Amino acid sequence: MTQETWNAVDDYLTAHFVPADPTMEHVLTVSQNAGLPPHNVSPTQGKLLMLLARMHGSRRILEIGTLGGYSTIWLARALPPDGHLTTLEIDATAAQVAQSNIDHAGLRDRTAIHVGAALESLRAMVDNDEPPFDLIFIDADKPNNPAYLDYALRLSRRGSVIIGDNVIRDGAVLDSDSDDPRVQGVRTFNEQLANEPRLSATAIQTVGSKGYDGFALAIVIAD
Ligand code: SAH
Ligand code: DHB
Ligand code: MG
Repeated sequence: MTQETWNAVDDYLTAHFVPADPTMEHVLTVSQNAGLPPHNVSPTQGKLLMLLARMHGSRRILEIGTLGGYSTIWLARALPPDGHLTTLEIDATAAQVAQSNIDHAGLRDRTAIHVGAALESLRAMVDNDEPPFDLIFIDADKPNNPAYLDYALRLSRRGSVIIGDNVIRDGAVLDSDSDDPRVQGVRTFNEQLANEPRLSATAIQTVGSKGYDGFALAIVIAD
C-alpha cells in the first residue's frame, strides 16, 4: 500500500461522507493563502472529531493547537447552541486566520481563541478555577504533550474525553532512542495515557491523506 492508494481512498471516503462543504473548503483555501502549514486534520478525521464530540454530548470543548481553525470548526459544529469551545494558539497570524474562518463558519458566539503559549493559558485556566471540559483535543507542539495531558486531567471530570493527534508519526513512535523531542514527547504521552489510573485509553493507527499516523483516545474514569 502506498500514499497514492491512501489518498485515493481518502478522496473516495471524503466524497461520500464529507460531500461539498464550502465552509471547510474556504477554511483550507484561506489557511493555505495565509501561508499556514498543512497540518490540519483531514476531512474524514475532522468529521470523526465532530462525531465523537456529538456521540459524547460534549458541551464544553478545549482544543490545544488551533492553526487556521479547521479542527476547531469541526469540533464546534458538534456543540449545542449554548455550548462553548476554547482553543489555544501561540501564533498570532494563525489565530487571526482562525478567527476569520470561525466567523465565516458562523461559530463566533460559541468559540474563543486564547493567543499565547498554551502552557500559560492552561495555567491561567487552572488558577481561575475554569469549570471542567467535556472533551479536550491535544494537537499543538508535541514535546509539551506530557504537560498538556497533566493540565487536561486538571481541567477534566469523570467522563471527560481526551484525544491526542499524531501519536504514531510514520512509526517513529517506536524509536526509544530518538533524539527528536517530538517523538519523545509522544512516547511519554502514550505511556502516561496507558499508566494513569484515572484514565482508560487506547491508540489507533491511521493512514490517509495525512500519511501514516494515529490518534490516542482516553476517558476519565476516576477523580
Ligand atoms: N488542530 C489543528 C492543527 C494544529 S497544528 C487542525 O487540525 O486544524 C499545531 C498548532 O499548534 C500550530 O498552529 C502551532 O502554532 C500551535 N502551537 C505550537 N506550539 C504551541 C504552543 N506552545 N502553544 C500553543 N500553540 C502552539
Ligand atoms: C505536524 C503537526 C500536526 O499536528 C499534524 O497533524 C501534522 C503535522 C507537524 O508539525 O509536522
Ligand atoms: Mg495534528
